[in-house]
Amino acid sequence: MHFSTLTSATLLALASLATANPCLTYNDANTLATNFGKLISAYSNKLANQTLTPGFVDYSESVNSLIDNGGTGPTPLLGATFTSRAKFEAGSAPQPAVPFTVKNLWYNCNTITIRWESDQKPQPVVGISVAQTVYAPVTGNPSKFMIQSIWAEFDSAAWAVNLGVLVPAPKKEKKREVAFEG
Ligand SMILES: *[C@@H]1O[C@H](CO)[C@@H](O)[C@H](O)[C@H]1NC(C)=O
Repeated sequence: MHFSTLTSATLLALASLATANPCLTYNDANTLATNFGKLISAYSNKLANQTLTPGFVDYSESVNSLIDNGGTGPTPLLGATFTSRAKFEAGSAPQPAVPFTVKNLWYNCNTITIRWESDQKPQPVVGISVAQTVYAPVTGNPSKFMIQSIWAEFDSAAWAVNLGVLVPAPKKEKKREVAFEG
């Protein structure tokens, strides 16, 4: 009786262990961060398929602002930038490759935070991307995890200058004078 109770409890515990999704390890987080960077510096549909879930969603007012050339349309500034992997692929495939270096990487069980630098000319661009991941093992993929959503913001003013969309205002010659009264 005791034995069979213990056995059932053990089997239950093993069953719940087997179904619990594993957490990201450093290697998983590092592989996903590297491959996310490659989607910007050396894009391919194959890598996008291996790295992003089909339902991938991307939120970035910085990207929306660039798409809108600093205006408010056609992409609503506060809306999603891409609402599926297929849309991400359609938007990314024609883009020129830009340099991308991971500067910092933090992760927990299912989230990766990447601080990155894109050494563009004349102005460097720094940004932060937060990626939520899911355990989705597929034979042949570089990682057993995929990215299902990203929130990313970066220095889109510098990027717009690099694209020639924004012309910097002349440098201020004098410090702003502050008058104290009283
Ligand atoms: C990527 O996946 C889509 C289906 O989601 C498929 O049609 C396409 O052929 C795949 N591309 C590559 C290069 O693997």
